[in-house]
Amino acid sequence: MRTQDPKTIYLKEYQQPAYWVEHINLTVRLFEGYTEVASELRLKKNPTVDSRELVLNGVGQSIQSLHLGDQPLSEDDYQYSDNILRLQCDADEVQFRAVTHIDPQNNTSLEGLYQSGTMYCTQCEAEGFRKITFYPDRPDVMASFTTRIEADAKHFPVLLSNGNPVDSGALEGGRHYAVWEDPFPKPSYLFALVAGDLASKDDRFTTFSGREATLRIFVEPQNAHKVDFALTSLKKAMTWDEEVYGREYDLDLFMIVASDFFNMGAMENKGLNIFNSAAVLASPDTSNDQRFERIEGIVAHEYFHNWSGNRVTCRDWFQLSLKEGFTVFRDTEFSSDTHDRAVKRIETVAGLRAGQFPEDNGPMAHPVRPDSYIEINNFYTATVYEKGAEVVRMIHTLISAEYFRRGSDLYFERFDGQAVTTDDFVACMEEVSGLDLTQFKRWYSQAGTPRLTVTDQFDAGKGTYTLSFHQSCPATPGQTEKSPFVIPIKLGLLGADGQDLPITTKANYNADTEVLTITDEVTEVVFTGLSERPVPSLLRDFSAPVKLSFGYSNEQLAFLAANDANGFNRWDALQQLYLRAILSMATDHRAGRTLSAPSVVVEAVATVAGDASLSPAIRASMLTLPGYAILKDAVDVVYIDDLIAARKHLVKTLASRYRDIWRSLTEKLSSDAPYEFNAEESGRRQLQGLSLWYWLKAGDQAAFDFAAELYAGATNQTDRSNALRAVLAGDAEALQQSLLSDFYERWQSDTQMVEQWLTMQAGTPGMTVAGIETLMQHPAFDIKNPNKVRSVIVGFAMNTESFHDEKGEGYALLASVVRQLNALNPQLAARLVTLLSDWKRYDTARGRMMASALETILATESLSSNVFEMAQRALKD
Ligand code: PHE
Ligand code: ZN
Repeated sequence: MRTQDPKTIYLKEYQQPAYWVEHINLTVRLFEGYTEVASELRLKKNPTVDSRELVLNGVGQSIQSLHLGDQPLSEDDYQYSDNILRLQCDADEVQFRAVTHIDPQNNTSLEGLYQSGTMYCTQCEAEGFRKITFYPDRPDVMASFTTRIEADAKHFPVLLSNGNPVDSGALEGGRHYAVWEDPFPKPSYLFALVAGDLASKDDRFTTFSGREATLRIFVEPQNAHKVDFALTSLKKAMTWDEEVYGREYDLDLFMIVASDFFNMGAMENKGLNIFNSAAVLASPDTSNDQRFERIEGIVAHEYFHNWSGNRVTCRDWFQLSLKEGFTVFRDTEFSSDTHDRAVKRIETVAGLRAGQFPEDNGPMAHPVRPDSYIEINNFYTATVYEKGAEVVRMIHTLISAEYFRRGSDLYFERFDGQAVTTDDFVACMEEVSGLDLTQFKRWYSQAGTPRLTVTDQFDAGKGTYTLSFHQSCPATPGQTEKSPFVIPIKLGLLGADGQDLPITTKANYNADTEVLTITDEVTEVVFTGLSERPVPSLLRDFSAPVKLSFGYSNEQLAFLAANDANGFNRWDALQQLYLRAILSMATDHRAGRTLSAPSVVVEAVATVAGDASLSPAIRASMLTLPGYAILKDAVDVVYIDDLIAARKHLVKTLASRYRDIWRSLTEKLSSDAPYEFNAEESGRRQLQGLSLWYWLKAGDQAAFDFAAELYAGATNQTDRSNALRAVLAGDAEALQQSLLSDFYERWQSDTQMVEQWLTMQAGTPGMTVAGIETLMQHPAFDIKNPNKVRSVIVGFAMNTESFHDEKGEGYALLASVVRQLNALNPQLAARLVTLLSDWKRYDTARGRMMASALETILATESLSSNVFEMAQRALKD
């Protein structure tokens, strides 16, 4: 909790610690009512630092005893204030011992050691270890760990920590112990401990050098049937990392534990990953295709961290993207190789535009490598993760896959066992490729999404075509002036027949990769030998995270949507058409004119819907309209009612104009085959779900009947949720109610299904604040459980039509939930604040109500530094 104004930490003030920790012996004794932690740190003076002060972090530590060497320490020997313990240390090598008591049973922050359902577990990233014991809790301190756990044998038969099990046995009083040894030096944020009555399932993996590893998943017994998919995903990920990066697993045992109470998706603790249950437990009956895909991706992500994050870690938390950006890039590539690359790229970019671009376009904007923070937990953002991954992707594009692999080999070899910086990573890529990335590194230090404006000129006489690129980047908090970025632009030039024309130019263009690299504010590129004026296809595969504008006519966009050789750009051309159509209708709505969707757009939809040469998955993504996040990001002032009216009008037009198409697609895409999760089948189900949704929007009774039947006869959760989603979006209230109560009746004992049930309701059109308040009274809701809070509260905030109700009640509800969570779970509370942070982009009336909700939050008593930082940034001029 905040006592005075919280302190800001700066990258430029980084200093190594005066003492390193070589080894820690940790003993954790779990008792009813409290936990005793005894730790022994083998300290070693850092010769490069003059100070002899030992600085240890410690939060909520009730001190029982402290020793330096053999010397017991009394209160005169140290200072313990502001969660830091300081003492003078004369020796260069000495042992520090602490015995403290902590209170995991009342730890609702879900950081440090806490109780999750019937088990105990830990979460130490970023700064949770200091809630377990006194320690230099910073990632550049890497130590080997020996962990002994003692607990009641009956309630906690399973005792786990990082590394390999080395000893276990009985103790008196019905208690027992287990000892774990992790030989790989690691930062404290990768420490983990679990104690519980858990079921487990094993698998095996033989690495490429012939080493045998046991893979083991632990779950609460009722979830034992939901572990197979994660085990299979894990093995796929292990194989991929061997094949694509030459990285092998390094311990004898790899464990995953599922926890119902978890602030994030999952955590890569060395040898002992801890997952949010929702991100690991899967079965066809309870998980839809999207969930399967997400689980596979997260399992891979956490596994990949074993090298990108654990063996090579971050020097300080400003370098967070070193491990997260790189690892997201790795897991995205894994998914692309495993399923459909174009579909994956489309999903990734849609997510980036809906999540990261708005962040970069508002008061929360920060560089991929931030230069200051109050609370590091507030920087686990789309910018650090997703934009960070785009930055790594651009390096990959610029130096080629082959050099990227050589660079990553060098990085892992050179820095194994060390804590390093993004500069160190980039230096490896420069060294192997010979490319100077000095200017490129602005992507790490400058915030904001660059704008790239392109104009063209054709000279028929000379056969030349000129593209002029102009880049700029808007001001972001703390950064008014920006210097030009290095922007790789993958491009093609289409002839009238829709084929790519050969490209000849003197510019910095790589014909093998079709990438043009620009570095200046203004760049003119002349293409020669052209006998016709081409249509440019720019930024193929979204080769750089920028906002591109080129004065395409609607017809040119439709042409690209139908012909571009690049699947991603076909999708993107259509998205631009949709966006334009919606924005211009929003303007009409504002002016009181009648709405009419441009016929080019409406016709393009029929073309795609009927194009059997496109895979169902691609067709589904091409037929999906941009969501509100993207629409809001595209306007100067958000008049939300106009956007809603315009988007609805386009949906309605497409639904009713093509009701026969939607009907026939829905029917044709049915299948009796047993459920299988793969790209083809999930594509089929996705297109069927979308067609059904449109068909139902046309209001046909037959569509409702089809949906009710699909729901009733579903043998998997994808069909079931497709049916429900469609019905909930329509206006058949009786059917909605009956399906929702049937769903709860049937699945109330399944936590993941209950979460989906809550999310669906929170997202239903017509949901009200009163309805949400009722839902929060439901026995299935629990304010202490982040998944439940996310389902209901984030689910509601994503329900644009309801959340932005004109009286501002949605904002007030959110503020009151944040105030309540501030004391219980500051990390989660702070995350919810971001849902109001774009207040300035709205019309004055709504903006004022959102700001006043933020002010209410800022006025909360005992405001956590987490929430303080976010609310204050959101309100800042
Ligand atoms: N490091 C985790 C990941 O990205 C995320 C995480 C951060 C989990 C902080 C818990 C706490 O894989
Ligand atoms: Zn990660």
